[in-house]
Amino acid sequence: MARVTAGVFTSHVPAIGVAVDLGKSAEPYWQPVFQGYEPSKAWLAANKPDVVVLVYNDHATAFSLDFVPTFAIGCADEFRPADEGWGPRPVPVVQGHPQLAAHIAQSVIQDDFDLTVVNRMDVDHGLTVPLSLMCGQPDAWPCRVIPLAVNVVLFPPPSGHRCYQLGKAIRKAVESYGEGLNVQVWGTGGMSHQLHGPRAGLINKEWDEAFLDRLIADPEGLSQVPHLEYMREAGAEGIELVMWLVARGAMGSAPARAVHRFYHVPASNTAVGHLVLENA
Ligand code: DHB
Ligand code: FE
Repeated sequence: MARVTAGVFTSHVPAIGVAVDLGKSAEPYWQPVFQGYEPSKAWLAANKPDVVVLVYNDHATAFSLDFVPTFAIGCADEFRPADEGWGPRPVPVVQGHPQLAAHIAQSVIQDDFDLTVVNRMDVDHGLTVPLSLMCGQPDAWPCRVIPLAVNVVLFPPPSGHRCYQLGKAIRKAVESYGEGLNVQVWGTGGMSHQLHGPRAGLINKEWDEAFLDRLIADPEGLSQVPHLEYMREAGAEGIELVMWLVARGAMGSAPARAVHRFYHVPASNTAVGHLVLENA
């Protein structure tokens, strides 16, 4: 049987991808950001998953605003890096796991979560930047990746509670898969940021740190936080953090311990937050 062995949580700032691709990661502005991921890169190399279910949001890249699924699962053999306006990132093509993805879709949809099945899609910075942060610049990504896209760009996004429950359903799906696979679930986006309007540039370190504390120790309670609080305290794009609750829900109800925790400001317009969690 397959198992969810860990959760990884990270911001997915597009400028981080640009810094990697243009060889700027050692520059003074970026060095502290990449330094913060070194322990996680070593941890991932030592705890290599077979498959990562990577929870992220598409930023009107694969899904134009004509069609925006609330939850979508990538069931294709592979996913190419998207052209977000300046050419595709020079990173490996993502290899999917169509069998496990189809199994998760089957199980989760039977559990009353309406996933959209996606058989062809390019993946944007929401998915590729976390891979770069965790894996560096390999010729091929070290594991298969199932993209799980959550709508946080078009009103109304799903609640934190729904995301947390979806994570639990994903765990159940993984545990009912016949082959013995090591599966990690990653949640991406956040932390506090707002990209537009009078509050552009908003950073709320206290709220972010409390979010990290509660994600570790009180995910059930954290899942009750309403959208309004994310918007007020963490900015309009802070709502991306609901995706972390999918990954946390997939870790089950046993306590979690932080293998690594990192928080840094600034990175482009956001606070970078990062956790690697294992079940205690
Ligand atoms: C930025 C961060 C994001 O998560 C994103 O999707 C786009 C831009 C930023 O900090 O610039
Ligand atoms: Fe984003």
